[in-house]
Amino acid sequence: MLNTEESALFDINAKLFDTHAHYDDAKFDEDRDEILQSLQASGVEYIVDVGCSFDTMEKASALSEKYDFVYASAGIHPNDAADADARGEEALQIIRSYLNKPKTVAIGELGLDYYWDDCPRDVQKKWFELQLQLAEETGYPVIIHDRDAHGDTMEILRRHPKVKGILHSFSGSPEMADELIKMGWYISFSGVLTFKNAAKLPEVAKRVPLDRMLIETDAPYLAPHPHRGKRNDSELMKYTALKLAEIKGLTYAEVCAITMENAKRVYNIK
Ligand code: NI
Repeated sequence: MLNTEESALFDINAKLFDTHAHYDDAKFDEDRDEILQSLQASGVEYIVDVGCSFDTMEKASALSEKYDFVYASAGIHPNDAADADARGEEALQIIRSYLNKPKTVAIGELGLDYYWDDCPRDVQKKWFELQLQLAEETGYPVIIHDRDAHGDTMEILRRHPKVKGILHSFSGSPEMADELIKMGWYISFSGVLTFKNAAKLPEVAKRVPLDRMLIETDAPYLAPHPHRGKRNDSELMKYTALKLAEIKGLTYAEVCAITMENAKRVYNIK
């Protein structure tokens, strides 16, 4: 949360859409409701809570039922792909059952994680493909997690040209972003954009078309500067919006309005 002095830095009339958060995480057990109840008054208009394991799909769905402004996704994270594989066909049935709920707006997060490598890569790839097929069949947008796996992620996405969605907390090169944009994808920026060692991200942000950029927290992770290392929440995303505004030569309020419209479009929220 921001203190009073910090809050004054941001236009309170500008509304934010946090396209990717994990309020189901245990790090919010002590004050989850307190935080969620305070967010709308501080300018956070919508949140998508990403359910990406069997446990968190249920928690994300419950949060979306409890709070009007919270939506949910359902899918299997690459770090949980072995768990899904052990359940086989039942795992896909579970994801489908959440997709049938009115406030589930996307499949994900799914993809590849070669940083943690928690799960054999062939199993990660298998569940990446299976969920892309589910997206092809159902028409839902997907949320992609790609950590240190850019080459294989692109190779698999190229095989599924009909699937569209979001590259969450994008960490690839400007050239990779260019290709994804051409393929119809959205690029989402987390607090990493504000880090001093953000590497090529500012260049990516410079090149991404206005109608394809999104912002997110990935809360409780990836808090933006000057809160780096602390628990993240959707209000802190104002710093990410401000950084994006600076890079694009826009005002903070313009970035909020543009990313709000983009998020509603990609998630089909009226
Ligand atoms: Ni996430």
